[in-house]
Amino acid sequence: MADDNKKQPQSNDQEENVTLTNRQGHPVTDNQNVRTVGNRGPITMENYNFLEKITHFDRERVPERVVHARGAGAHGVFEAYGTVGDEPISKYTRAKLFQEKGKQTPVFVRFSTVVHGGHSPETLRDPRGFATKFYTEDGNWDLVGNNLKIFFIRDPLKFPDMVHAFKPDPITNVQDMERFFDFIGNSPEATHMITFLFSPWGIPANYREMQGSGVNTYKWVNEAGEAVLIKYHWEPLQGIRNLLQDEANQIQSLDFNHATIDLYDAIENGNYPEWELCVQIMEDNYHPELDFDPLDPTKLWPEDKFPFLKVGKMILNRNPDDYFNEVEQVAFGTGVLVDGLDFSDDKLLQGRTFSYSDTQRHRVGSNYQQLPINAPHSRVATNHSGGQMRYQSDRAPGQNPHVNYEPSSLGGLKEAPKPGKDHEPEYYDARLMREKIDRPNDFAQAGETYRNFEDWERDELVKNLGANLAQCNEEIRSLVLGNIKQADEEYHRRVQEELDKVLADPNMGKPLHRAHAAAKKAEDKGHDAKPY
Ligand code: HEM
Repeated sequence: MADDNKKQPQSNDQEENVTLTNRQGHPVTDNQNVRTVGNRGPITMENYNFLEKITHFDRERVPERVVHARGAGAHGVFEAYGTVGDEPISKYTRAKLFQEKGKQTPVFVRFSTVVHGGHSPETLRDPRGFATKFYTEDGNWDLVGNNLKIFFIRDPLKFPDMVHAFKPDPITNVQDMERFFDFIGNSPEATHMITFLFSPWGIPANYREMQGSGVNTYKWVNEAGEAVLIKYHWEPLQGIRNLLQDEANQIQSLDFNHATIDLYDAIENGNYPEWELCVQIMEDNYHPELDFDPLDPTKLWPEDKFPFLKVGKMILNRNPDDYFNEVEQVAFGTGVLVDGLDFSDDKLLQGRTFSYSDTQRHRVGSNYQQLPINAPHSRVATNHSGGQMRYQSDRAPGQNPHVNYEPSSLGGLKEAPKPGKDHEPEYYDARLMREKIDRPNDFAQAGETYRNFEDWERDELVKNLGANLAQCNEEIRSLVLGNIKQADEEYHRRVQEELDKVLADPNMGKPLHRAHAAAKKAEDKGHDAKPY
């Protein structure tokens, strides 16, 4: 596959001239000594270079992502197959990036962990983010997914509570499994997700050997305006590898950046990771024959009924030049779609779609879309103006520069022609309400997933749940176990037995004071040191 998105080589002049300047372009002749009154006297305030350097440094950090703060990224290319399974893809979508076999679209991918901060260990049990920005000829398309194919909740109103329960306690600043399972036990729809999360699928070995999934249900729209429901999945051609808790502990004791380094080194060494993009397709309707709602992100679509159909391949072949500029400032959002791709009425997806650009206006700034990593590679012409850190106008070359509004008869921007027939979404004759969906079916798939695991995966799931539930009080343990019982009797029996075993272990600290007990143990094992 041609690597057409490599950066342009710099001219010899630029390469050879390494003279330090400040940001005003003034050469810096002394970068070691501030200007002082005599060599022991006070610093003067007109030290422009010093002030520029230190004040810029003081502002080096922007707020980290409220979730998915720890991440690594890479550039690459997506190549379309032109088909979906055995059929021409145009039957289902008119999105241009998919139409021709061999058509290439540049991409940027950011992988991440979810709960903890920017430099937290990459061995933690946590879903992994897998977000892809496709710079298509029709503008950007962001596919913002995770490694696991389902999610904890189905209603976006619950997301901030969920994240608060998973993040460190507001008093101790330490993640607490009792708070985690308090939320999970009281949210029965999360039973399926924790069945994956506490199995080896909760700790992918690295970013290269993991899957990705759009999780939410989207739509594809064809030339005639007909729609189908779609789930997206990335399948790694390197294979899939997950870790046992003990293996993760081992890695973490030596290295807490292993996934970032693995990705970086693989790409530097020309061992480019690849994924195939697959879709599952369903007719766009309510599907009364299913025991779940196709718009419910806590459910898998059974592969025997809805097979994975390949639509293209992605290769990651270039590391970022600058972590902050690219990986930190990249901004993905589920609202960023191109013609031929659409939303469904999946409530979680709709809630997400507001949240991403809202947080990015706060995190990166109101002009975040102008940054090179976020800007489309296709043409942009808007009447937006102003805002912090805006550095270019979006005027079109033929536009009357005095007309930054629309409609106008004075040569301003004009609306685009419709690219195809509009998709007519479902007609609702309904009153406004707050209600759970009709087919929540919170437990059946959790039981199926448990039974579908291999023996070693089930053993690990039981062991991990036992160890973590032991840190919770009786009430929360029985809430969670009650949910697991509804998923599968054997699953419940085994977790209960494991939990009883852990609780009977004399080395186990008092459940409610686990962190203190652990800290005490570590203190006891410490070596005395001489004062320094
Ligand atoms: C990041 C909100 C569910 C995948 C984020 C961010 C927010 C957010 C605010 C930070 C974005 C930034 O600062 O740029 C939400 C809300 C959700 C939700 C409100 C549910 C209502 C999900 C789900 C998935 C997901 C279901 C998986 C399909 C991601 C990923 C990132 C992210 C991969 C990191 C993107 C990056 O690398 O920059 N989410 N999220 N989120 N979310 Fe979600």
